[in-house]
Amino acid sequence: MLLIGGGGREHALARALAASPSLGTLYATHMSNPGIAQLAQPCDQPTEVRESYRLVQWCEKRGIGLVVVGPEDPLAEGIADKLAAPDRLVFGPTSDGARLEGDKAWAKQLMRAAAIPTAESRTFTDPDSALSYVRSREQAPVVKAAGLAKGKGVVVAKDTEEASKAIVSFMIDRIHGDAGRAVVIEEKLEGPEVSVLALVDGRNIMVLPPCRDHKRLGDGDRGPNTGGMGAFCPTADLDDRMLQRIEREILVPTVDALTREEIAYRGVLYAGIMLTHAGPKVLEFNVRFGDPECQPLMARFRGDLVRLLKLTAQGHLDRADFSWDTRHACCVVLASGGYPEKPKTGVPITGLAAAEKLEGVVIDHAGTKRQNDGTIVTAGGRVLGVTGLGETLEDARAKAYEACRLIRFDGMQMRSDIGVVREPAPRVFRGTR
Ligand code: AMP
Ligand code: GLY
Repeated sequence: MLLIGGGGREHALARALAASPSLGTLYATHMSNPGIAQLAQPCDQPTEVRESYRLVQWCEKRGIGLVVVGPEDPLAEGIADKLAAPDRLVFGPTSDGARLEGDKAWAKQLMRAAAIPTAESRTFTDPDSALSYVRSREQAPVVKAAGLAKGKGVVVAKDTEEASKAIVSFMIDRIHGDAGRAVVIEEKLEGPEVSVLALVDGRNIMVLPPCRDHKRLGDGDRGPNTGGMGAFCPTADLDDRMLQRIEREILVPTVDALTREEIAYRGVLYAGIMLTHAGPKVLEFNVRFGDPECQPLMARFRGDLVRLLKLTAQGHLDRADFSWDTRHACCVVLASGGYPEKPKTGVPITGLAAAEKLEGVVIDHAGTKRQNDGTIVTAGGRVLGVTGLGETLEDARAKAYEACRLIRFDGMQMRSDIGVVREPAPRVFRGTR
């Protein structure tokens, strides 16, 4: 099988795929990730969709039966459309389904039509109308570039001025290119955030244990938004009842709405949800595993991941058979100096081997590179994901931080409060509905 993508999420997936009894050979497109390179054979083809005929030919020659696509960009561009064939399954939605993440305006429309709870919003393609709308409102809104912007297209504005600046930079300055052709302006929601991921096989849904991600750079959720500075699984304050409610009110209606659009969605459906006093509401959909949520999830996965992803792509999730480690998992991200604006690369990393030897610790390479002399250096913003497993969340955190303390590189940034739950979910949920 073939794995596309080269971050921490894909290293975590590669580990579980490589441990699958039903795996033949694992090939990967991103062998510059030293973690993936240890587990896979190289596929030296480009992953850009306009050159996908090369990848198709390569897959045909090797008899690849399953392609797993990690990141959103190739999915939005339509890599699944190009690679799927009668004898080749693709885990990841086709471009029409990937619009859920790649076109926030469309996603909002779909949610509105299906009465799926989400923040109130309006979409604008004209900057002047967007600016006057923002000025006419009392509350400062959240401004989102409608297209894909590597997780940087959302501004939770503190006042009208900041919201207006975001509109100008997205729509006029086009800091994220065409992603800012349209903006979604929505009400600011409050409450704890959870990441609820589900496998979807076209009709069946299998909800995975809920995770929580820490998006801000600094302790206490301060500083700029990042791709995610750490995540843990399962979340402490989301009970089964709440999870069932999210499945019933959000995930099932979303898959039904996709089906009405004649989209057979196959892959991960990731709902970023805020637990508000009025119930769970969607902040965003993603069409892939979360990064870093995938790292603690995979650290707990027990079973044959190749088989599970194949069954998902085939429409046979009902035959799936696997379990989760009962322990908690907590993943702390070690980021480069200068992240998220200007990550410093080429900085040598020490202590990896000692950290990896610790019992109950898994280390995923996200932005690293192996130099010719064997040294591992930083090669991106988020460098490593250090996941600890433990009987309680507190044990898992302690394990992760014990390993983090052994790793060093110049300028290393790390939050010290990953896995610390500050806001419990509003009590109003319990016993309602
Ligand atoms: P997104 O990429 O849409 O998940 O947005 C990034 C982050 O911005 C989310 O994880 C939230 O923390 C925050 N956010 C997005 N939408 C809203 C909203 N409507 N209200 C409050 N915060 C939001
Ligand atoms: N951890 C957030 C994301 O994957 O989008």
